[in-house]
Amino acid sequence: MTLANKRILLGVTGSIAAYKSAELARRLREAGAEVQVVMTRGGAEFITPLTLQALSGRPVFLHHLDAETEAAMGHISLARWADLVLIAPASADFLARLAQGRADDLLATLCLACDGPLAVAPAMNRQMWAQASTQDNMRLLRERGVHVFGPGSGDQACGENGPGRMLEPREIAEQSAALFDSGLLQGRRVLISAGPTREDIDAVRYISNRSSGKMGFAIAQAAVEAGARVTLVAGPVALQAPERVRRIDVRSAAEMREAVLGRMEGQDIFIAAAAVADYRVARPAAGKVKKQARLILELERNPDILRAVTALPVPPFTVGFAAETENVAAYARAKLRDKALDMIVANEVGRHDRGFDSDDNELLVLWKGGEKSLPLGPKGRLARELITLIAERYGAKDTA
Ligand SMILES: Cc1cc2nc3c(=O)[nH]c(=O)nc-3n(C[C@H](O)[C@H](O)[C@H](O)COP(=O)(O)O)c2cc1C
Repeated sequence: MTLANKRILLGVTGSIAAYKSAELARRLREAGAEVQVVMTRGGAEFITPLTLQALSGRPVFLHHLDAETEAAMGHISLARWADLVLIAPASADFLARLAQGRADDLLATLCLACDGPLAVAPAMNRQMWAQASTQDNMRLLRERGVHVFGPGSGDQACGENGPGRMLEPREIAEQSAALFDSGLLQGRRVLISAGPTREDIDAVRYISNRSSGKMGFAIAQAAVEAGARVTLVAGPVALQAPERVRRIDVRSAAEMREAVLGRMEGQDIFIAAAAVADYRVARPAAGKVKKQARLILELERNPDILRAVTALPVPPFTVGFAAETENVAAYARAKLRDKALDMIVANEVGRHDRGFDSDDNELLVLWKGGEKSLPLGPKGRLARELITLIAERYGAKDTA
């Protein structure tokens, strides 16, 4: 089980099972997640924010809809930050408020503002659970796509026995991890290139670009979650490889070409997210070039890795990237045709709120006969949407 790099907003509401949320926060973090706790008024009656702050490693947000909480991180930012909003325990009262779409405290408001996955782990007395009102609420929530973990059945804090117990923290953590594990690319071999390349001018200087590798690494993570066996060929970046990814570090475009082509055999899918330098210095100096009034560099074209891959006798399903500052869609469509790609992912760069080195991005995905735009959002979420699209198109081609 892994929740590596996942951001989980853990909502704790007013149930006697709230004491278990302390262990849940610990387990989620052990599985690699970042955990931000938000408590309702009722939740804070059952377990202290201090305990959850210590175990989550972050200040806890309480029920208030006030300027102070908003200044720390607004409810919309909180909702967007999360890859998963997990309410555990979810009290009967909170589930009712959720079903009604109420926005009368911080947790309910951010649930309403959240467009990502939402999961609840109900915890209540068996009679409260069996009540028609609660069951109606649960039916509504399920219909709207809310994931429901449990409840389990057994001895209850009130001394009764029956359904309504919150699942154990271990089970909740596992079911949370399973939400990210789509299996869409189960057993497929996927090679991903990411990051910039560096082209040496001399022994100490180089030419590069502003690619951070974040998008490529997020795609590698999403591909692993989808069940793929992932090889990541990375230029120089300051990022940790996701778990279960085979990482190969390279520096120049020539090294990247060798690493990619050398590992292409048997790959089902190639996703070229790297920003490979188009040019390299024709004659890099072995030592350090002395300072001079003017230095003229002669640049020559680097080999085109994408073209080399699609020209293979049996090319993999190949996805290219187009980073442009203008006319994004037109350039991307031309590149799709020109390089015989199966799919191209276009993004606008040169803006501070998206693209290179940003945590957010906005993508336009094009293929022969179709396109889909993925609106501005965190790169992790976009990467999962992109992997879903790739899996669909790959499946369509496979059966064509
Ligand atoms: C001792 C005690 C235990 C409670 N346990 C639960 C419970 O396990 N599940 C539940 O849904 N409500 C339980 N309640 C009722 C909720 O705490 C109450 O509905 C509260 O308003 C919920 O607050 P919230 O919606 O702000 O989370 C309990 C109340 C008390 C006094």
